[in-house]
Amino acid sequence: MKQTVYPAKGFTATTKRRITRNEMPREAAAGLHGPRPDAYNPERDNRGLPRVPPFLKPGTGVPGLEIDMAPRTQWLFSTVATKVLVGLTGLSLVGFLCVHLAGNLLLYFGPAAFNAYSHALISNPFVIPLELGLLAIFVTHVLQAATNWWSDRGARPVAYQVKRGAGGRSRKSVASSTMIWTGSVMFVFVAVHIATMKYGAWYPATIHGEDGRDLYRLVREVFQHPAWVAFYVACMAVVGFHLWHGFSSAFESLGLSGPRVTPRVVAFGKVLAVLVGAGFFFIPLYIFFLGGRS
Ligand code: HEM
Repeated sequence: MKQTVYPAKGFTATTKRRITRNEMPREAAAGLHGPRPDAYNPERDNRGLPRVPPFLKPGTGVPGLEIDMAPRTQWLFSTVATKVLVGLTGLSLVGFLCVHLAGNLLLYFGPAAFNAYSHALISNPFVIPLELGLLAIFVTHVLQAATNWWSDRGARPVAYQVKRGAGGRSRKSVASSTMIWTGSVMFVFVAVHIATMKYGAWYPATIHGEDGRDLYRLVREVFQHPAWVAFYVACMAVVGFHLWHGFSSAFESLGLSGPRVTPRVVAFGKVLAVLVGAGFFFIPLYIFFLGGRS
């Protein structure tokens, strides 16, 4: 294992500035007990809490992303870097969702239109590298968001007894403080969804004279079951809720904020959240109640 090298004792690893007395536990600053005031502990922060979640400890994380290895890797997990990565990957996933929704809206036009679109997608050789890129973006988003949530949680070891919005111009809301939970629901949803749709039954079909897959039939079969419809409808509401705060939060994490820009980004993000959430939300309901087309 490579040893972390710090410029000198008493300097933080990420900003390379000297740790101030305010950043130390009171006992340590007073020199009573605990770590020496100038000692930087790469494992734990000055409140004694782990700097990174246990699931990211070397050997248990994603290969190549292990923490406490080298300063560069530590930067990757510093709060600023994680926020930038969560923002960038989040916006890329929003891009995917918009494209995915546009394709799925073809379900309203019946099997010929939807199957022709999905066949063009599946049979395109560029789709596999794109899917791998999407997977990498998704994994990075989830891991970095979880890391961020973990360290923010560490900054407030005792939970608030009463939670309320900060009022005024603060953007704290139910959507913003539940991002980790709506994100977790989406994580489970995506896993179940891919198993159901991508790796679900393969019904053969002839599409423009070629052998292909009748994905329309699969989607219609899935959305004939009330339990599946309920699951999808609930998850689509969560998708909208996650985007409601996530879109503008990504811009803020990327430093794209200001008194003129932020209100516009927030408003656009909310409109987008409603459109994307509602766009997906009504597909299972349409197929369940109206039977789709044949
Ligand atoms: C009513 C809503 C939805 C329907 C009907 C739907 C339909 C589908 C179908 C049919 C596929 C298989 C495509 C293929 O095999 O090429 C698929 C794949 C996928 N869906 Fe959805 N989807 C919905 C919502 C969502 C949402 C909200 C997300 C993300 C949060 C999502 C993420 C994905 C992903 C990541 C894949 C795999 C893409 C790939 O590997 O090419 N889907 N979806």
